[in-house]
Amino acid sequence: TDDLFKSVVSHAKEYGFVFPSSEIYDGLSAVYDYGQLGAELKNNLKTYWWKSMVQLNENIVGIDSAIFMHPSVWKASGHVDGFSDPMIDNKDSKKRYRADQLIEDKIERYQKDGKDDKAAALQTDLDTALNNDDLPRLKEIIEEHNIVCPISGTKNWTDVRQFNLMFATQMGAMADGAEQVYLRPETAQGIFVNFLNVQKTGRMKIPFGIAQIGKAFRNEVIARQFIIRMREFEQMEMQYFVRPGTEMEWYNKWKETRLKWHLALGFNADNYRYHDHVKLAHYANAAVDIEYNFPFGFKEVEGIHSRTDFDLKQHQEFSGKKLQYFDTEINQNYVPYVIETSIGLDRLFLTLLCNALVHEDLSTEERTDARVVLKFPAPLAPVKAAILPLTKKDGLPEKAREIMAQLKLDHNVQYDEKDSIGKRYRRQDAIGTPICITVDHQTLEDNTLTIRHRDSMLQERIAVADLEKFVADLVSW
Ligand code: GAP
Repeated sequence: TDDLFKSVVSHAKEYGFVFPSSEIYDGLSAVYDYGQLGAELKNNLKTYWWKSMVQLNENIVGIDSAIFMHPSVWKASGHVDGFSDPMIDNKDSKKRYRADQLIEDKIERYQKDGKDDKAAALQTDLDTALNNDDLPRLKEIIEEHNIVCPISGTKNWTDVRQFNLMFATQMGAMADGAEQVYLRPETAQGIFVNFLNVQKTGRMKIPFGIAQIGKAFRNEVIARQFIIRMREFEQMEMQYFVRPGTEMEWYNKWKETRLKWHLALGFNADNYRYHDHVKLAHYANAAVDIEYNFPFGFKEVEGIHSRTDFDLKQHQEFSGKKLQYFDTEINQNYVPYVIETSIGLDRLFLTLLCNALVHEDLSTEERTDARVVLKFPAPLAPVKAAILPLTKKDGLPEKAREIMAQLKLDHNVQYDEKDSIGKRYRRQDAIGTPICITVDHQTLEDNTLTIRHRDSMLQERIAVADLEKFVADLVSW
């Protein structure tokens, strides 16, 4: 499984999906850039999510709020005081770790060694300490279980301290007169502070939702597993405003709806599971993760949270502005309750890569052969079709260009005339292009083309006149 993950990471780099940020300067820890194909795939994922939220639900609208927000937002939301991880330093290696992560790693170790009872007891210990924000107890656990620093191998630990995850910077030209502002650690607050703006201008009636896609920033103590834990990442969040007392009904509905959405990507249901939160975030009264089975184990991809009226009430108090809704059905004013769905775009991107990457052995008795394929669902594929003239002469490139011009207004298509047709097919397989369209001498005679399918590698002939509809049907949502 380590090998599978390594091949996903190296494939992503080799074909222009994901690069380490500032790579010529040896990269920046836990920051990544999306390359020419990664950007396309990411855009397609955003469109897929946006359509399913905003376009398909008449009572959900989308916004795009600023990354910078008034500093009071983060005091009201509880992030200034409460958005932190317990960290511990090793005095010998001078390395900083998340205390809970060190303990989680130990639990995994016990499990691998078949010590399931020990693992379960330690998990309970950890959950209790986290629930009580009991930092001294975390240190005791680390000592009791002889947890050593992975770098120095020693047990020379500092005390456990809270480390706030927000990035701060100054707004205004002069540092001394400037106000400290934060890069948002979640997009949700941009939705909460605009709750009444959207409700009034959009004449929204409860229940209704506000969706948004955007960057979020967290100064993660440890960075690991590629784009799973980044310091700059992208979220797709939706806040669903409901009448108080109905929140559990909506929580359960969204929990179900969101899992179905993941499965609609064509993934195997066994690769998904729910994980109920034991330690709830400061704003939630119920929370569940949707986890995906990555090559290194199940990890959270999306969270569904019942946030009560915590955020709106806090903003009401801190801003002094009423954030209420008049419900004409029951003739009552109230602060709505909120169910949130929050998915990490980068993690979703990684589920797609892990799920799609296949090494196929195509060997026959005569010769050994293999190919690497990215089996993306066609609507999400970065390149929808490749147009390939069989040879570089006899007017085939000109004809292929004509066909390219016909398709490129509606679809991201690629033209390629270099190397043998077999090599070109394999290149397209490796980037997940669902079909190749081959222009040959017969095309000039009877206006037909060869369609070569990525997954089956089967070929069929269709008329040029039918091509636009053929491609549109293939890639439609
Ligand atoms: N508004 C709620 C919220 O932000 P969260 O569980 O902290 O909840 C939601 O984050 C999602 O954002 C996660 O399920 C995950 O997919 C993604 N996410 C969180 N931290 C991340 C990080 N450091 N790198 C990449 N994705 C992250």
